Amino acid sequence: MISKTVHFGLLLLPEYQWLDAAGPVDLINNHSQFYLKALQMDEKLVAKAWPIEWHYISHNLEPVRATSGPAGIPTHTYDTCPPLDYLIVPGPDPTAPLPEGCVAFLQKLMAQDSFKALLTVCSGSIAVAQAGILDGLSVCSNKWVLKNFAGTGLLNKKVKWVGDRRFIVDGKVWSAGGITAGMDLAAEFARVHFDHDLLQIVKDVSEYEPNPAQPDAFARLLEGVDLN
Ligand SMILES: *[C@@H]1O[C@H](CO)[C@@H](O)[C@H](O)[C@H]1NC(C)=O
Repeated sequence: MISKTVHFGLLLLPEYQWLDAAGPVDLINNHSQFYLKALQMDEKLVAKAWPIEWHYISHNLEPVRATSGPAGIPTHTYDTCPPLDYLIVPGPDPTAPLPEGCVAFLQKLMAQDSFKALLTVCSGSIAVAQAGILDGLSVCSNKWVLKNFAGTGLLNKKVKWVGDRRFIVDGKVWSAGGITAGMDLAAEFARVHFDHDLLQIVKDVSEYEPNPAQPDAFARLLEGVDLN
């Protein structure tokens, strides 16, 4: 039985895309002890799952509006958030500056040895790149946004933007392309981290077959576009 609680955070940036958040959170949480117990799965299988605790983080505790659906209710601010093992960042408006305190929160988190990985979905990577934490790394993002940014000079050139994959892992950074690629990234995270029998059962219950990183049908959006 895995008894040490694994702490996952979801960064709620203003106007985050609801599906960017819901897809990976739901997919990863489906492999948690709590959820599998609720599904009355075999105890031996539950024992292989992670005890996961979720934390929803914002600059204050006001509800955060998403692009659609209900507002996200933060459980913690940047200051009160417990030490995280993983952080998921769903995509916000990529042109918006990060809220006050967010840059320091991200920089501190990335520097912690106990922090294992940052998962970005869609424009989430463009947003957190403002903190300099993606400098020098190979990173995916929403291809439509990358294309528009490349044309206007808004692109952060310190990041090695990758235009022909649904997701990529570089060091502590796991990044996905547009929206649904976030679920493929989460599925890859699950494949790497969770028990094989558990993966198969969760996959069968969910009826979701993840896409690999390549081939990526949407790579065509960035053909001939200079990203670096
Ligand atoms: C999580 O599992 C439930 C079934 O228990 C399923 O309906 C849902 O689609 C799964 N979520 C994902 C993202 O795979």
